[in-house]
Amino acid sequence: MQLHLRGVSSEVAQIIDLSKIQKTDYKRLTTKLEEFDRCLGGGVVLGSVVLVSGDPGIGKSTLLTQLALNVANTLYVAGEESAQQIKLRVDRVKPNASLMVLNEVDVDLIVEAITHARPGLVIVDSIQSLETQELESVAGSVGQVRESAHRLQRIAKDLHIPIFLVGHVTKEGNLAGPKTLEHMVDVVLSLEGDLTTQFRILRSSKNRFGPTDEVGVFEMENSGMIEVKNPSRIFLEQKVEAPGSAVVCIMTGIRPLLLEIQALITKSSLPSPRRVGNGVDNNRLQMLVAVLQRRMGLSLWDQDIFVNVTGGIKVSEPASDLGICLAIISSFKDIAIEDKTVLIGEVGLLGEVRTIRQLDKRISEARKLGYKNIVSPPNVKNLPQAVKASLKTQ
Ligand code: TYD
Ligand code: MG
Repeated sequence: MQLHLRGVSSEVAQIIDLSKIQKTDYKRLTTKLEEFDRCLGGGVVLGSVVLVSGDPGIGKSTLLTQLALNVANTLYVAGEESAQQIKLRVDRVKPNASLMVLNEVDVDLIVEAITHARPGLVIVDSIQSLETQELESVAGSVGQVRESAHRLQRIAKDLHIPIFLVGHVTKEGNLAGPKTLEHMVDVVLSLEGDLTTQFRILRSSKNRFGPTDEVGVFEMENSGMIEVKNPSRIFLEQKVEAPGSAVVCIMTGIRPLLLEIQALITKSSLPSPRRVGNGVDNNRLQMLVAVLQRRMGLSLWDQDIFVNVTGGIKVSEPASDLGICLAIISSFKDIAIEDKTVLIGEVGLLGEVRTIRQLDKRISEARKLGYKNIVSPPNVKNLPQAVKASLKTQ
C-alpha cells in the first residue's frame, strides 16, 4: 500500500502491515565463549551493533581479541594501538594466531574497507578514537563519537555484519563516552570488576534481541579471560567462618549467584562516623544501618561501618539486605554466623523481612552448594527472628 502523506510532496512514505511480515528468528553466530553468548541472549545477532563499555584496563581489548580469534573472518579495527601491540596481545591469548587488523581512525575509510573486505565480524577498538573528516571537532567529542557510531551502524545493517564497539568509561568524560551511544546501539554490555581482583563481570543492560541483566563471569589470567562456569563456588572458595561474614544470593539475569558479604564495625574517632560500602549502594547501606539502630537497638552511632562484597561484584538487589544486616550484626556482636547459612530477603524500614522474587531458584542454588541453613521468608518475618536463625549460640 502506498500513501501520499503530504499532499505537496512527491516522496512516498511506505507503510508496512506487520501481519504481512514473516516471523524469522534472528541469525546468530557463536563467540565460542558460553558466558559471552549468554550475555548476548544466545550469540551475536547478524547486523547488530554491540557496545562494550568499561573502565580503562579492565580487559575489554583482551576479551574482544579472544572473540576475534574465535569467530572466523573477523576484522579488528585498531584506532588506539599499533598492529604490533595487537600482535603482542594475540600472542598471549593464542600464540601465532592470525587476525586481520586495520589500523585506521577515519570512519569513512573504515566503512569503505568493510564494504570491500566483507568480514564476518568487526571489532572497533575504540569508538572514541574514530573521526570523520566531515566534522570539525576532534576525535572523542560527542559529535564525532555519535557520527562514527551512526556510520558503522548503517553498514552493519546494510551488510548484516555484526559490529562490536569498544567504549571507555571515564569519570569526567561520560558525556562523550558510551552513554551517548546507548540509545543508538542494539546491545549494551559493560565489563566491570575491581582491578585488584582477577574477576570480571560482563553485564548486559540493554538487548534488543534477548533478556537484559544477564551476567557472564570471567577470570583475568595471563593468557586472557577464562570463563567461570560455576561462579558461586569460586566466589565462596575463600570464605572464612568469622564474625562479619555472611552469604547472600542475588539473581544475575536468570542465574542465581551466591556471594560473600563482609562487614567490619570499629569504634570511630570521627564526629560523624564512616559508612563505607564497597559493591553495595551507599544509600541502601545508610538505610539499613538506621533500621538496625532503631529496630534492633544497636548503638552504631559511634561506630565506623565498612561493608564489602567480595570478588568485586556490585550488589544492587534488595534481596541482599538481610545478608548485609546480619554481616553488620555479626561483626558488631563479634559472633560468627552458623556454617552453611545463606541469608535471603529484603529488609523494610520497620525491621520486617520481606519476600523477594525468584526465591525458589535462589534456595535451590544454595542447597545445591551445600547450604543447609536457609534464612529467608516465610520462615523468618523480622530481624530478631533472622538473628536467632543465623548467629551461632555461645
Ligand atoms: P586490556 O584488555 O588492554 O584492557 P582495556 O582494553 O579494557 O583497557 O587489558 C588490561 C590489562 O590486562 C593489562 O594491564 C594487561 C592485562 N592482561 C592480562 O592480565 N592477561 C592477558 O592475557 C592480557 C592480554 C592482558
Ligand atoms: Mg583497550
